[in-house]
Amino acid sequence: MNKKRKDFNVKKSLWIISVIAIACGACAREGAINLAAETSFIEKRLQGTLVNIPDSTLHIPRSIQKDGKSWRYVSYQDWTSGFWSGELWYAYELSGQPKWKEQAAHFTQELRPLAYEPVIDHDLGFQIFNSFGNAYRLTGVDSYRQVVLAAADSLATLFNPKVGTILSWPRAVPNMEWPQHNTIIDNMINLELLFWASKNGGADSLYHIAVSHAKKTMENHFRDDYTSYHVVVYDKANGKRRKQVTHQGFADISMWARGQSWAIYGYTMVYRETKDPVFLDFAQKVTDVYLDRLPEDLVPYWDFDDPNIPNTPRDASAAAVVASALFELCQYVPAEKGAVYRKKAELMLTSLARHYHTADGNTAILGQVTGHYPNGSEINTSINYGDYYYMEALLRYKNLRK
Ligand code: GLY
Repeated sequence: MNKKRKDFNVKKSLWIISVIAIACGACAREGAINLAAETSFIEKRLQGTLVNIPDSTLHIPRSIQKDGKSWRYVSYQDWTSGFWSGELWYAYELSGQPKWKEQAAHFTQELRPLAYEPVIDHDLGFQIFNSFGNAYRLTGVDSYRQVVLAAADSLATLFNPKVGTILSWPRAVPNMEWPQHNTIIDNMINLELLFWASKNGGADSLYHIAVSHAKKTMENHFRDDYTSYHVVVYDKANGKRRKQVTHQGFADISMWARGQSWAIYGYTMVYRETKDPVFLDFAQKVTDVYLDRLPEDLVPYWDFDDPNIPNTPRDASAAAVVASALFELCQYVPAEKGAVYRKKAELMLTSLARHYHTADGNTAILGQVTGHYPNGSEINTSINYGDYYYMEALLRYKNLRK
């Protein structure tokens, strides 16, 4: 063999070896999410929580207290009440074990009154869609559907047609100029209840309310760089915007991590339900500004503009919400961008699985979740919504791999 030919063969072999090495590296990273191990870990944690639930009116596990292991329990009326039964439904879906279905059905029923009592705030979507919505999706039992429909009608009573959005907190909250009309970015998630109801036996008006809310929020809740304000206060009589402020963030003009995660998840879902490309474009814009500013491990600090970063708590729940949303958004955008979103979501899950699991003794799933930093409550702990969206992200990952 002449020298030129030999050099060419050596180069070719090196090239093939490099390609195989890169491919294996990618496989190894992809395989870093071990679904069987995660499912087993989650089942152990849920079982540990379940056996200690007290027999009292306050018995829905919400967050881990300062001792790092005891749950703070709440009643069915708490805004987070639907996440626990939602986790049990997801455990059933992830593992296929009937025992989780029985527990999920039990805790779901406890929330039933919410759909028929006077509505106390916008969180009805979180409460009823995660519990009864998942129950219906996984069992097809019609009585579950009826409860979701009743809840959607109830949520719609908070819609103000002058403003074009749902009133989030129908009560006096500091700095919200009650009885003017407030809308919080979190409210985007609750639109899913309305969309779903309109397509499963409810009134068409529910669909139009949801679209109006999404459009009005798009106009008023975002800065020029697509970061979100937490709250907008509108004049309840003429619908004009009065102010844009925060409630749970560092400052009125800061990017509160979970608020932005609700926007990413919310506009992805609104695109799924409407197929209006305006919402798809917007979902990408609110996503891209979030991704651009993430720390290296892809789990944000509780507020992107806290001047104390890196010496301030994370919010692992925001990472779980965004990972779940990206597993959906990656399917709607062109292939190249979809691959980037999907890869980011996988890396977020890997990061959460490797570095944000709770320590033994704590029966929640994720640690380092921050609830309400300015209030000094639920900081750097475990909260049920972090666990719920983490499980949802794992399920979406599992389904995408199929
Ligand atoms: N919806 C309230 C929160 O995200 O903390």
